[in-house]
Amino acid sequence: MREFHQNTKHQHSFPRTSQGFFDPTRSEKIFSAESLKLSFGNIKALNGVDFKVHRGEIVFLTGVSGAGKTTLLKVLGGVIKPDKGKLSRSEHKVFTAPIFQDLKLIENKSCEKNLMVSYDSSVYKSKKEFRSDMRDLCDMLGVTERLGILARDANGGMRQKISFIRAMLTRPDVILADEPTSALDFENAKKIFDILNYYNVKQGLTVVWATHNRDLANKFTGRIVHMDKGRLIYSGHACFI
Ligand SMILES: Nc1ncnc2c1ncn2[C@@H]1O[C@H](COP(=O)(O)OP(=O)(O)OP(=O)(O)O)[C@@H](O)[C@H]1O
Ligand SMILES: [Mg+2]
Repeated sequence: MREFHQNTKHQHSFPRTSQGFFDPTRSEKIFSAESLKLSFGNIKALNGVDFKVHRGEIVFLTGVSGAGKTTLLKVLGGVIKPDKGKLSRSEHKVFTAPIFQDLKLIENKSCEKNLMVSYDSSVYKSKKEFRSDMRDLCDMLGVTERLGILARDANGGMRQKISFIRAMLTRPDVILADEPTSALDFENAKKIFDILNYYNVKQGLTVVWATHNRDLANKFTGRIVHMDKGRLIYSGHACFI
């Protein structure tokens, strides 16, 4: 994959393994959660969650529907507050981009306009630079020809790709992705993973990716954290499960 932007936001140096990869275990904690609890009525969506994510990690949050994955991502992203427990974030400025399970596209705007909302003049040197990144990501995911259609008229796969590209275009330090490929076939899901993995290796992009599809997570590289009934019951790599 060709390098399509120089991200000036990523000024940190990262501990590396002897092979030159980021060594997340020696990097700072982006999130550190202790005993998180959150109930909706009598449903214990989070029932005592301890969860740490280091800078430069790729973590797959797996578990069946209703296990609490979205709730945990929302708590990490600051969208909702836990009832109990402690959540600390990195002491450095960390820009987090969410990818919502329900996408949150602006339905009556074109796909292109949906992407333009990520333009930030303090992040990009110029609109031209932003457009160049946008074109590269759109080309990689094969959506360039269809950018003019309204979000509400786009098919499920296209809508997911737009929501993913919109998040990437903010040049985040952390991506909190909630089922980002549920409407995509494996080939396209792999393209999304490859883009995330590229930025992870190159810049230490931290990724937390929630999916109920354990097979998918097993095919990619990252730590798997498995949830069940609001609890984390496993953390480790696929090969040890
Ligand atoms: N706003 C809410 N009001 C009431 N109950 C909720 C709310 N949000 C989540 N829940 C409940 O909390 C539990 C955990 O939900 P959550 O959405 O976090 O699960 P999930 O693992 O993301 O599931 P899925 O794979 O279906 O997306 C579920 O029983 C769900 O019904
Ligand atoms: Mg969910």
